[in-house]
Amino acid sequence: MALPTRVRAGVHVSRAATAEESSEPLRVRDPFALVIFGASGDLAKRKLIPALYQLQAAGYLPDHYAVIGFSRTPMSDEQYREAMREELQRRAGDGTSASGPGSSGATVAPDDPLVRALHYQAGNNDDRETFLQLKERLDHLDAELGLGGNRLFYLSVAPEFFPAIIRNLAAAGLIHGKGEASWSRVIIEKPFGTDLASARELSAIVTSVLDESQIYRIDHYLGKETVQNILSFRFGNAIFEPLFTEKYVDHVQITVAETLGMEGRRGAYYDHAGALRDVVQNHMLQLLCLIAMEPPSALDADSIRDEKVKILRTLVPLSVEEVAASTVRGQYGVGERDGKVVKGYRQEEGVDPKSLTESYVALRVRIDNWRWAGVPFLLRSGKCLARRVSEIAVQFKQPPLLLFRESEECGDLPPTHASANLLVMRIQPNEGISLAFACKRPGMRIHLEEVTMDFFYGEAFRERSPEAYERLLLDALRGDASLFTRSDEVEYSWRFITSIHQGWAELPPPKFPNYYPFSDGPEEATHLFAGRDGGWRPLRDD
Ligand code: BG6
Repeated sequence: MALPTRVRAGVHVSRAATAEESSEPLRVRDPFALVIFGASGDLAKRKLIPALYQLQAAGYLPDHYAVIGFSRTPMSDEQYREAMREELQRRAGDGTSASGPGSSGATVAPDDPLVRALHYQAGNNDDRETFLQLKERLDHLDAELGLGGNRLFYLSVAPEFFPAIIRNLAAAGLIHGKGEASWSRVIIEKPFGTDLASARELSAIVTSVLDESQIYRIDHYLGKETVQNILSFRFGNAIFEPLFTEKYVDHVQITVAETLGMEGRRGAYYDHAGALRDVVQNHMLQLLCLIAMEPPSALDADSIRDEKVKILRTLVPLSVEEVAASTVRGQYGVGERDGKVVKGYRQEEGVDPKSLTESYVALRVRIDNWRWAGVPFLLRSGKCLARRVSEIAVQFKQPPLLLFRESEECGDLPPTHASANLLVMRIQPNEGISLAFACKRPGMRIHLEEVTMDFFYGEAFRERSPEAYERLLLDALRGDASLFTRSDEVEYSWRFITSIHQGWAELPPPKFPNYYPFSDGPEEATHLFAGRDGGWRPLRDD
């Protein structure tokens, strides 16, 4: 079938003039102390402190609060403040700035309120003594700044430290009970376990100390503006949602593709994780839930999570045969780009030279419910691919086009056809949504062409999109858990993912490497489309 001409029609987005959003209704009311475990780590420096800086600058934080960095390196408060100030300044200077200070070139002063609110406590995650010192410090700050005993603990550390930190917090008396006047909340970074058994074990430890309402399991994809928009788009419009069923949808493709490889630092962690654990178990299954779930009865944490769980429960564990038929693994080899040699995955620092870890994975997933029976959901994610893109593409069924056949017989134009409608939700980059549909090409005859209507956030809205961590930190400080995952979501997703790992363990080892760096991934991934029209959307096609 010849490819349709792509005519891109820009969409004029008409919208009422809106007033600048005021921070007031969402402002954190309670004073608080936020303790960041892993304070000298990458996430804290690149995401958390810049997110707090933005929240402070935009007026979301209360008058009284303290941020306490906790990690092993001995440092004074002043040294920590200066290190974080320099980091913020560097980000402002180089314009890395959705999460950094407002505009490129801004100066971050030593007396900036966020910088002044920073404190530092050196200590070991597994040393009880240090937690007593931390308690003393927090009690002191409470008294000095009037923080009301409210505490948010952010576990931005390697997962093996989660149990020790949680136990030590409890032993040092740092966790208030659920009903007490002061609140305690704990944000836990991913990965929450490495398989079903370890996730259950960790859950048991965490829930022995904390009530579910105090646990905030973070998945930063849920904080992305475009991901939050999935529910708004689906349930805030009358014309799309009724079509999201097996009657009209042929298949759905979910892609999280990255151009980055291991970048030196990540090999050691990643080689024990692989793409399935690193991205599919969390970010991609969350995207799957949001695009497939039924409308929740309200936008509160439990109503949304109840609907997501119903989707995750349909992902029944796969047999070895099903794993063989519906999953493809890949690993990039050595290549060349712009005349330079590019390392293969096995040559990356921290990676086993004989590694069988997948840097790419593709899956065909079934959601066996009344809405989606028979509609494949195709998921793929990988490192070192042709383009960085995260998107959900809903491919509608081909309409019957007999009606238009006559013009096909006229000979001088390419055969009339319009490919089926395609709705693409671009999570990043070029955030927006496009809809492809058939249109009569101007002329005396009836001849269809595919055109696209495109909505770009950047063109339609003046407002900057908050970074994921800004939104998630603000929500946790306000006690809103709707964008965090609940224990049953985590367990059902691990149940499914663990069955794939078990299947892989029984199947013959993959022949790695099997894709060229900066390509679209392994050829075998096209097999997941066996028996149907279409294939993966080319990564370079934008
Ligand atoms: C993280 C993974 O959770 O998500 C990384 O550990 C991945 O390997 C990252 O690169 C992708 O996030 P984003 O926001 O860059 O798409």
